[in-house]
Amino acid sequence: MPFNTISVVGLGYIGLPTAAVFASRKKQVIGVDVNQNAVDIINRGQIHIVEPDLDMVVHAAVTEGYLRATTLPEPADAFLIAVPTPFKGDHEPDLTYIESASKSIAPVLKKGDLVILESTSPVGATEQMAAWLAEARPDLSFPQTHGESSDIRIAHCPERVLPGHVLHELVQNDRVIGGMTPKCSALAISLYKIFVQGECIVTNARTAEMCKLTENSSRDVSIAFANELSMICDKLDINVWELIRLANRHPRVNILQPGPGVGGHCIAVDPWFIVSKTPEQARLIRTAREVNDSKPLWVIDKVKLAVAEFLQANPDKTAREVTIACFGLAFKADIDDLRESPAIEITQRIIAIHPGPVLAVEPNIMELPNSLNEKISLTSIQSAMNEADVLVLLVDHKEFKDMSKTLDKVHVDTRGILR
Ligand SMILES: NC(=O)c1ccc[n+]([C@@H]2O[C@H](COP(=O)([O-])OP(=O)(O)OC[C@H]3O[C@@H](n4cnc5c(N)ncnc54)[C@H](O)[C@@H]3O)[C@@H](O)[C@H]2O)c1
Repeated sequence: MPFNTISVVGLGYIGLPTAAVFASRKKQVIGVDVNQNAVDIINRGQIHIVEPDLDMVVHAAVTEGYLRATTLPEPADAFLIAVPTPFKGDHEPDLTYIESASKSIAPVLKKGDLVILESTSPVGATEQMAAWLAEARPDLSFPQTHGESSDIRIAHCPERVLPGHVLHELVQNDRVIGGMTPKCSALAISLYKIFVQGECIVTNARTAEMCKLTENSSRDVSIAFANELSMICDKLDINVWELIRLANRHPRVNILQPGPGVGGHCIAVDPWFIVSKTPEQARLIRTAREVNDSKPLWVIDKVKLAVAEFLQANPDKTAREVTIACFGLAFKADIDDLRESPAIEITQRIIAIHPGPVLAVEPNIMELPNSLNEKISLTSIQSAMNEADVLVLLVDHKEFKDMSKTLDKVHVDTRGILR
């Protein structure tokens, strides 16, 4: 089926690159977002997020007339929903964004349309989305009641791109295509084949949902192992970076690197979607989450010890005169994404307990988030290195890689940058 018009609902880190790549293949793309500011920026041919080369692709797509953004859904042949799926306070998945996105597109759906849920979702969310759509459009038939003869095709196709490499991975990665029926999958494949060069592998919607959660839980459990090792090694006075390097010489061992915790919108969130559905069975997955979530507190203890060490070496100073610099706020290297970042949590906690000045260095952002901006200022690497007494390395951004000359300063290195 020719997809003349494709609508991407949610123009963030996933939706905007996806919309831009469809547009770069000369498809008419309508981007929908509730954020008027994002819509205005995109319609000017600019972008509101940081992702290498995306600005050029969006600029070309908008100026050539293939991409247009709006706050109100319009008719299209395919809809891809890429809205947030956070969890609530009790770690239960919050599907309200999917609910409002699906209710917003329901009025413009027509017979033959394809609706794809791209948001990372707990098992059953695609069926839930289909139920919301069916409730809003009793005049159309849906796969849950009409199977292969339904008017509307529905699939879950999770996204597994790496921030910072999204444009390349969108095209090259294999895709899991979980249609509610085989015809739904077939139509979804024909849509993705517009730009995907990786393999499109068919399964059902529930398995596709679980596949994405499994990928991120697997990463979370592996990182928890590395983080636990770092705490064990600290107790035993062993350099964890050296230990992991040595252990990884074993041909079948590949331990990941420890860090200050686990952040981002995916790995720190998605495992809870498994735990919430199957709390009795998901014991290891829950424990890994708890290990990773506890790591920032361990780092705070290390910062307290570092300040005490500095004061011991400088008995003429008080804690009020000790300047701490936090290097990095993003949840991982070389991106501007601060969501669920352990570096933010650690910086906030340092501000709360430390009576002296705290500096933040984050080369990928222009201004601090609201949670920090009244308490500290954003500082350049050089002035933080000059002014700070205690350095706390939280992200291994490329700009920090040659900081080993600061080794003479007291530091807490959560990433092994100064090792
Ligand atoms: N960022 C990643 O690296 C990544 C990777 C794989 C999967 N995912 C998943 O993709 C989904 C989207 O993530 P993201 O990082 O793009 O989020 P994001 O916050 O960057 O973007 C989501 C966008 O959706 C918009 N939005 C919210 N409600 C809406 C609605 N009802 N209608 C239209 N727009 C709406 C928001 O304004 C925002 O611009 C999530 O489920 C996430 O878990 C993200």
